[in-house]
Amino acid sequence: MNLLNNEVLLHGCDYNPDQWLDCPDILEEDIRLMKKAKINCVSLAIFAWSTLEPEEGVYRFDWLKDCIDRLYDNGIYTILATPSGARPIWMAKKHTEVLRVDASLIRNHVGGRHNHCYTSPYYRKKVSEMNENLSINFGNHPGVILWHISNEYGGDCYCPLCQEEFRIWLKDKYKTIDILNHAWWTTFWSHTYTDFDEIEPPFPHGEMLVHGLTLDWKRFVTKQTVEFCSVEIDAIRKGGSTLPTTTNMMDFFDGLNYFKFKDLLDIISWDSYPEWHTSCDIKTASRAAMFHDLMRSLKNQPFLLMESTPSNVNWKTISPLKKPGMHELSSIQAVAHGSNSVQYFQWRKSRGCSEKFHGAVVSHDGTEDTRTFKDVEAVGNWLEVIKEVSTSKNQSQVAILYDWENKWALEQSWGPRKGDIHYTEVLLSHYRGLWKQGISVDVVDMECDLSNYKVIIAPLLYMYRGNISEKLTDFVQQGGTLVGTYLNGMVDENDLCYLGKTPHNLTDVYGLYAEEIDSLPVAKYNSITWNNRTYPINPLCEIVHATTSTVLATYNEDFYQGESVLTKNHFGEGTAYYIAAELEDSFYEDFYKNLIQENNIDRAINCELPNGVIATKRMGESSYLFLQNFTDKEQFVTLNTPLINMKSKETYTDKVMLQRYQILCLTDKID
Ligand code: GLA
Ligand code: ZN
Repeated sequence: MNLLNNEVLLHGCDYNPDQWLDCPDILEEDIRLMKKAKINCVSLAIFAWSTLEPEEGVYRFDWLKDCIDRLYDNGIYTILATPSGARPIWMAKKHTEVLRVDASLIRNHVGGRHNHCYTSPYYRKKVSEMNENLSINFGNHPGVILWHISNEYGGDCYCPLCQEEFRIWLKDKYKTIDILNHAWWTTFWSHTYTDFDEIEPPFPHGEMLVHGLTLDWKRFVTKQTVEFCSVEIDAIRKGGSTLPTTTNMMDFFDGLNYFKFKDLLDIISWDSYPEWHTSCDIKTASRAAMFHDLMRSLKNQPFLLMESTPSNVNWKTISPLKKPGMHELSSIQAVAHGSNSVQYFQWRKSRGCSEKFHGAVVSHDGTEDTRTFKDVEAVGNWLEVIKEVSTSKNQSQVAILYDWENKWALEQSWGPRKGDIHYTEVLLSHYRGLWKQGISVDVVDMECDLSNYKVIIAPLLYMYRGNISEKLTDFVQQGGTLVGTYLNGMVDENDLCYLGKTPHNLTDVYGLYAEEIDSLPVAKYNSITWNNRTYPINPLCEIVHATTSTVLATYNEDFYQGESVLTKNHFGEGTAYYIAAELEDSFYEDFYKNLIQENNIDRAINCELPNGVIATKRMGESSYLFLQNFTDKEQFVTLNTPLINMKSKETYTDKVMLQRYQILCLTDKID
């Protein structure tokens, strides 16, 4: 089956038969239950290394072959994992270099998972041998459809091998130590290096205050992880398999710049564990939605929801059960945003160890008579009924800039709010202003092509790297609409402050310059009044001076009362807005409502949506409108064109009722 072309939505789970090899009856029963739950794929062997290679060089693949065959005979496909996320004990005993060294420079002992060095030549060799072998044995099996490379890459290793690689990478990047010293501004506090050999990674009992060093270390960790992933893929190709590859990513994971993986992987996937019913479900839903959008945007193609929990998780102190409806809603929400799958961790609860109480399709009772199993079965039905959606795409005229390197720089900055700048949260506030109005948003970084959008939102774009200022200038010049905020264009890619007025190179585009920024105590608010409505401001208020821009609103309080806070500037054929302070959701909702009207941005549906009801659209030969009710009350949406409910086949001409936590998929296609 070709995953990228076929009309199929995957419904699957992580499957660990290696834990149950002495229970053939359970393995048989798994097949019956999977078919009942309409599972059409499983992710196999993710942490199975010690069963695959119990002693060095002794490979045991018979059980895996039996399993893949049995699944395939029953219409279930395999996403085959490489097992590098955890290694057998024998390997670390013989070669301690595979064990990770933590930030206090202490080498870990055997234990846990994700406890390995990405640089270790021996580990790379062992992983390559394993992957090549898996590829030779299973890479052409008709039941295998995709390679699941490792599991949730992440974490830093400070071992001597990694440190040495870091120095080599720095030398290659900067060529001379003087250039590096200048880029990192090391005369500050006498941190000047005289040789590349003196450089250590940033760690708590060493150097943490040279921001250029910290940034480069983070870039290096991403580069090293991408390289490790490419070593894994090369070995699979060497073994002869041409199947597509993916690796499962994590919700706004700070440690890796995921944009750097996009060219290496064929398909993007991620593991989503939203905290339903702990605070505001609408905010929780927006976070999942924005990350889905990021995953879709990486390759501008459908992605896979690789993991989610069928009920609750075990690794949070508080993890309420999903209320009735929420499992279908959150699963199909992923599809609405561009996923071509709903997959779970895990198929069956393990009997022992730390994940024995983690949600699973099948619990320790081993039956289908559970609420969770029925929820999963219902999602299986959904995916069969709407499978044609898999060939459609979400289309966005708006993009938001989410840039990992900018985040790293901004969040390590001492000032204007040390340790208290929350890049992701601020971007989510902006995102919600669009998402709540049915606007499809791509999530891109500074290296992406921006030219095809009508609107670019660039909150907290503190660092300018690459040619971003030229790109944004051209974008506005040629008719685009740009929205920027406080803390804009202040530092270059080494985190060195620009000399001169900021936003660097864009003062003409925004028609203003920034002077200073006030950082308010938690309980103290300023405010603005715009279009007769007053909105609170907390905690950051930047004082800017309009030059050519029109002032739309000013501060209501304090000594800078009357100074600009919201401005609009015409530049070339386009427009640039500047929001000089940190506002709350209510402002962004009104602001973006105005902006999308002004720019004629397509909405998923042209009507007022009740608070908490979200509309998302995928377009193919037909259109697929997903109405999602994230509230615990019935809600009504009034359509302006007749649409058909893909599940019930009912045609709605006017009002549609959504039950609490209900999702509907409506199409304009007439069968
Ligand atoms: C991650 C891992 C899984 C499992 C789940 C539990 O996503 O990839 O192996 O541990 O968390 O939620
Ligand atoms: Zn290492």
